[in-house]
Amino acid sequence: MQFVQNTPIWLKETDSTNKEALRMLKTGRPAEGTCICAHFQTEGKGQRSNRWLSLPSENLLVSFILYPPIHSASEPFTLSMAAALAVRETIAEFTNHPVEIKWPNDILVSGKKIAGILIENQWLGSSWHAAVVGIGININQKKFDVEHATSLSLINQLIVDPKIVLLRLQANLSAQYTRFCKKEHATLSLEYHEQLFGRKTLHTYQTAQGLILAQVVQVLHDGRLELRSSEDVHLTFDLSEVRLVY
Ligand code: BTN
Repeated sequence: MQFVQNTPIWLKETDSTNKEALRMLKTGRPAEGTCICAHFQTEGKGQRSNRWLSLPSENLLVSFILYPPIHSASEPFTLSMAAALAVRETIAEFTNHPVEIKWPNDILVSGKKIAGILIENQWLGSSWHAAVVGIGININQKKFDVEHATSLSLINQLIVDPKIVLLRLQANLSAQYTRFCKKEHATLSLEYHEQLFGRKTLHTYQTAQGLILAQVVQVLHDGRLELRSSEDVHLTFDLSEVRLVY
């Protein structure tokens, strides 16, 4: 059930491609795989209610509209895993540096964030009607407000056309989404865990109890993160409860 790689809708400027996609879903039923891109976002949204900032035309800002099959409603995090694998794979095609997934679905190169994913779901009553998969990939931007951000051009010293990256992203997302629709949840989870940052090394995490030194054990079915502290205590967290200290 590969989604058709639709011709992307390119907007010069919008508030947020995710918002644009959600508006389209309010007024109709766009084809599965509809892909909305913007050269600039005035209100780009990130996880944890953060803003996603990106200089005009330097990076890829894109949202895909998907209609997850009914059976998948019990495991919404699997879609997040499929999207993270697709973005990781896409970036790996443009660099020789190791590319990792940081829970829940940030993409890191050399420990710095190169891409982020924000999935917004639309429910009709209790059924999962649609998912907007918003993806931001840093491509040609060289200066960032935060120390732990990077881009393809910073790591490769090359300028890349965001439209070329988009073509590969569409193909990879379509392929991973097919696996998700075919209920390949166990293999998706296995591959996600193989690429997961912090499983073999101790890192500092900010929690409500203060800073802890810990190693990632796994991501549970409901998307919660399980850590093992340096004192061998197992703890689980949702996104609002823990943060990696870079
Ligand atoms: C994160 O915080 O890591 C998620 C960032 C997601 C950013 C993308 S850019 C395209 C799409 N539109 C948005 O407003 N956000 C997502």
